Amino acid sequence: MSNLITDARRAGASVGLTFDSITIEGGLPLSGEVDVRGAKNLVTKAMVAALLSEGRSVLRDVPDISDVRVVRGLLEIHGVTVTKGVEDGELILDASKVRSAHFAEIDAHAGSSRIPILFCGPLLHQLGEAFIPDLGGCRIGDRPINFHLDALRNFGAVVEKLPAGIRITAPNGLHGAQVVLPYPSVGATEQTLLTAVRAEGVTELRNAAIEPEIMDLIAILQKMGAIISVEPNRVILIEGVRTLSGYTHRAIFDRNEAASWASAALATQGDVFVKGAKQEHMMTFLNIFRKVGGSFNVREDGIRFWHPGGDLKPVVIETDVHPGFMTDWQQPLVVALTQAIGTSIIHETVYENRFGFVSALQKMGADIVVHPHGLADTPRRVPRRDLEQAAVITGPTPLHGANVEVPDLRGGFSHLIAALTATGRSTVSNVGIISRGYENFEGKLLALGARFSVDG
Ligand code: EPU
Repeated sequence: MSNLITDARRAGASVGLTFDSITIEGGLPLSGEVDVRGAKNLVTKAMVAALLSEGRSVLRDVPDISDVRVVRGLLEIHGVTVTKGVEDGELILDASKVRSAHFAEIDAHAGSSRIPILFCGPLLHQLGEAFIPDLGGCRIGDRPINFHLDALRNFGAVVEKLPAGIRITAPNGLHGAQVVLPYPSVGATEQTLLTAVRAEGVTELRNAAIEPEIMDLIAILQKMGAIISVEPNRVILIEGVRTLSGYTHRAIFDRNEAASWASAALATQGDVFVKGAKQEHMMTFLNIFRKVGGSFNVREDGIRFWHPGGDLKPVVIETDVHPGFMTDWQQPLVVALTQAIGTSIIHETVYENRFGFVSALQKMGADIVVHPHGLADTPRRVPRRDLEQAAVITGPTPLHGANVEVPDLRGGFSHLIAALTATGRSTVSNVGIISRGYENFEGKLLALGARFSVDG
């Protein structure tokens, strides 16, 4: 193979990838150890939280992924100094000189991430106004921001839609509010928290998301001086305070990355120790992993996942908000399900368009049928949404190599797993998307014994 990667350090130059595609010789089990660091879906929000203080915050276990770079860039144009600390993965964020950014600087970040929307509350508190460019993120559905804007309006913010984005002001300040989310949205819960902590008075948030990453963000805000209590039944009460100080915090591990490597171990009949993974935040995943026929062993420093031999079994899963089976876990697991004997069903209830990755798997030989309107009406814990999409996976089907293009972050990782599982050679292109959320994925693949080369 051309450009065969044999040097882990070269492969480790992950973010700002120097290649667009990866050619994989499949059929080898992945075996070895990978490290997971802080969760993408916490670290980026924790960085925004630093903007709420005028002090210095220290965030540890920050992965080198492109979403972190985007948020870092946004913070820097608002006057936050971001430097590396002494520890590997440590960032120091100094928010003592926050300033308004120029429109052109902000606009340069348009379309690169969804995190800018979370700058609203902190910027309103610090500067009295915020400008948010058109948002990016994975194309997995409409991904509207109506819950965010409605919540901000409840606090007294005024939202003005401009051709290139949204301008938000708070002419009469931000005041504690009643916020009832139509759905326990992760982002809208974070929006409410980041706004309420310094709003005047008490905020009651109902139907809040309670994902572990949200709890970690609440822990950070509490360290900064916020008063937040998590009540039963998805209610969060926030008593606003005038000022907050900086924080020192080690980010919660990335359970999405851990579940991805676990699925890769299962699909390739491998054995992978995921250092840093913790049982308490993965229990729903672990149950399904076991039901499918995977083995795991929880250790103090991580979790070992492996295929114990024998047949894999089909499962029926409905994705859900926490503590349900995460929407981000289904794509990598689907590849393992193509190897199970029988019919599995994944019912996606969080996003309306999260089976875009399936066409590549079909091209590689998988028997997957997507039903746009779902299959059955099942009762659920949280208010029903008008999203009904199901994928029916019938296995086992041998996968063969093919040329495929990454559609989104988690779908992209599932393409890598499929290529590793398939016999023959596959080229996976547009892999830059994967580096949005997977630190040094090519170095980790190399460490696990994958055979691949990179191009372009
Ligand atoms: N929604 C609305 N209006 C809103 C906000 C959300 O209708 O104003 C809908 C969305 O369209 C979606 C659902 O509510 O159908 C859930 O969206 P949510 O707000 O919970 O998701 P998010 O905050 O945009 C985060 C993660 C996602 C993860 C989801 C669910 C980040 C940066 N992203 O997205 O992660 O899938 O929560 O847990 O935290 C990923 O890591 O690949 C990823 C997509």
